[in-house]
Amino acid sequence: MPGTARADQPEPAAPAAADRGAELFLTRCTGCHTVGHGDLIGPDLAAVSPWPADDLRAAITRMEAKVGPMPPDEIEALRQLLQSADVAERLAREGERVAQREAASLAAPSAAVGRELFEGSRPLENGGAACMACHRVAGHGGTLAADLTDVFTRLGEAGLRSACEKTPFPVMRTIYARHPITRQEAMHLTSFFETQAGRARAGRGFPVTAAGWGGAAVILAGIVMGYRGRNRGTRRQLVRGFHRR
Ligand code: HEC
Ligand code: HEC
Repeated sequence: MPGTARADQPEPAAPAAADRGAELFLTRCTGCHTVGHGDLIGPDLAAVSPWPADDLRAAITRMEAKVGPMPPDEIEALRQLLQSADVAERLAREGERVAQREAASLAAPSAAVGRELFEGSRPLENGGAACMACHRVAGHGGTLAADLTDVFTRLGEAGLRSACEKTPFPVMRTIYARHPITRQEAMHLTSFFETQAGRARAGRGFPVTAAGWGGAAVILAGIVMGYRGRNRGTRRQLVRGFHRR
């Protein structure tokens, strides 16, 4: 049925204009659904395209229980999207447009800022613990988790940025779930790791300073007790334990 569903709904005139249905889908539905990329928490919605429009409208309306109230025009925009022949292209195009808009609003990555975020001398925007509590770079930092000196080489630019932002590792997911790393911070951190890649792991095997261990222990105790918000004392302690090179 290619093309049929588009007849009553012209595409936006300006190429840069938001695609309302796709925009709504990406902001409110992608956490649980894909269209054509398999089931997540909710079913793959590629299957709903042949549904009678009223049934689909009703199914989307039921989702208000999950995403909050949606006015009828939003429900209709979503229905129209899910039944348009080019839904995949529309979602890809809108995703690209959002990514470009976000990239334009971000500052260029700075290795110096990344280092400060890693050490904790510059607080993370959402108050998360400094990386150095658990990780070391070029011989400095904690030993609770992987040495990140060569992590840029291992994961590559895109993989590393995503790992910093999404913190998909169990321990990190626990401590950063309520204190997420921003995309901008992930860019700075990645840039810092890039400058460290290939450096000799000087001082590898040196004992972590007492302050470093103390800081890590305080943070871990904080995790256990439901650590929230900023703990500047801990952060200062961590920074003191880190000797700039
Ligand atoms: C928190 C997760 C979640 C979110 C967010 C969510 N859904 Fe769902 N959705 C589900 C689950 C789970 C089901 C299957 C069970 C049900 O119908 O409640 C479902 C079912 C559906 C169905 C019926 C599909 C079928 O094969 O039965 C449609 C259509 C749908 N969702 C559309 C949407 C749209 C559009 C949005 C965004 C406005 C959305 N959903 C947001 C979890 C979610
Ligand atoms: C509470 C301890 C803790 C803190 C704090 C922490 N991490 Fe991690 N991180 C871990 C653990 C545990 C892993 C899983 C790998 C391992 O066991 O070392 C990990 C894995 C990683 C990896 C993947 C390593 C690899 O070799 O694949 C990256 C990248 C990373 N962390 C970056 C960061 C950054 C950036 C920060 C600061 C914003 C940070 N971590 C803060 C504990 C921590």
